[in-house]
Amino acid sequence: MDTAGRILTGHRPTGPCHIGHLVGTLQNWAKLQNQYQCFFLVADLHVLTTDHIHPERIRANTLEMVLDWLAAGIDPNQATVVLQSAVPEHAQLSMLLSMLTTVARLERVPTYKDQIQELGLNPSLGFLTYPVLQAADILLYKADTVPVGEDQLPHLELARELARRFNQLYGELFPEPQPLLSSHPRLPGTDNRTMHASYGNAIYLKDSPEITTQKVLEMYTDPTRLRATDPGHVENNPVFEYLDIFAPDPEEVENLKVRYRAGKIGDVPVKQRLAQVLNDYLSPLRERRAVLASRPDQILEILQSGTSRVRPIARATLEAAQSRMGLTAGLDLNEDISPVILTGIFC
Ligand code: TRP
Repeated sequence: MDTAGRILTGHRPTGPCHIGHLVGTLQNWAKLQNQYQCFFLVADLHVLTTDHIHPERIRANTLEMVLDWLAAGIDPNQATVVLQSAVPEHAQLSMLLSMLTTVARLERVPTYKDQIQELGLNPSLGFLTYPVLQAADILLYKADTVPVGEDQLPHLELARELARRFNQLYGELFPEPQPLLSSHPRLPGTDNRTMHASYGNAIYLKDSPEITTQKVLEMYTDPTRLRATDPGHVENNPVFEYLDIFAPDPEEVENLKVRYRAGKIGDVPVKQRLAQVLNDYLSPLRERRAVLASRPDQILEILQSGTSRVRPIARATLEAAQSRMGLTAGLDLNEDISPVILTGIFC
């Protein structure tokens, strides 16, 4: 394959994917898999950093998230889906990299402070080292490109620092990974706040058409509009933001906007049209999802085959890092333990 470079990106399996993930992330990944060698990581170890008391939840979410990825167009024949916990080299490289940064540096990572406040966390050691593990995820595959949202930029900065520091100390091994920001604006939730599972304002890929319709009919619109004959605002109105993204015909949307602004169409018919638009848009994806969901063994097979594909790459990088750092484990018994080294040790 003629590829531009190597991508690693991923997600924590914390719940089902919603349409914000679809247009912000997954559709982008599905495009990138044609242009780059792609590794898509199911970051299940990272989930443990904030929640280690619901093991059954992590496993269910892991399978469900992979199901959503595949339904959204991630093709396991083109890209490699990697289960983080099945490739022990992620944790091993993270341990080595943790020597190259300081506790003070990690305490300054903005997501560390924010999350502690937001979740009222008493942070574990594992949570403090979250971005070191993320750096290991990326560097293990020597990925040069990391598609992420803006919130992840501080983590990527640390990964770049760790790559530079390692290369300075031990010789060039890791490329400095570059972020690739998604050009898509953030999709608001049905209540116009950020779409987030904990806000109950998300439309999920796995939602039925009926649930989707119900969620759309309850959507936030223009709060200043009391009657259908009042002139309405389409700006900052998630119903129209969704129509802009999902409707097949922009002219139809323009037409609806004109009538909405003029007080010539009520909220309900616009929402009914949006429900139809969304359900049409999601229908092929849902069909694929239903087929996949009936074969959970296939999902496990995809994870297993991804794991066996990446293990040799992960092993090679880890051994190189171990060897450069002076650990004997990284040495090849036949080639590296030469008489010269042995003479040095024993004489
Ligand atoms: N921290 C990322 C998130 O919460 C998930 C992640 C883990 C990741 N490892 C990664 C993203 C490596 C990019 C590269 O979304």
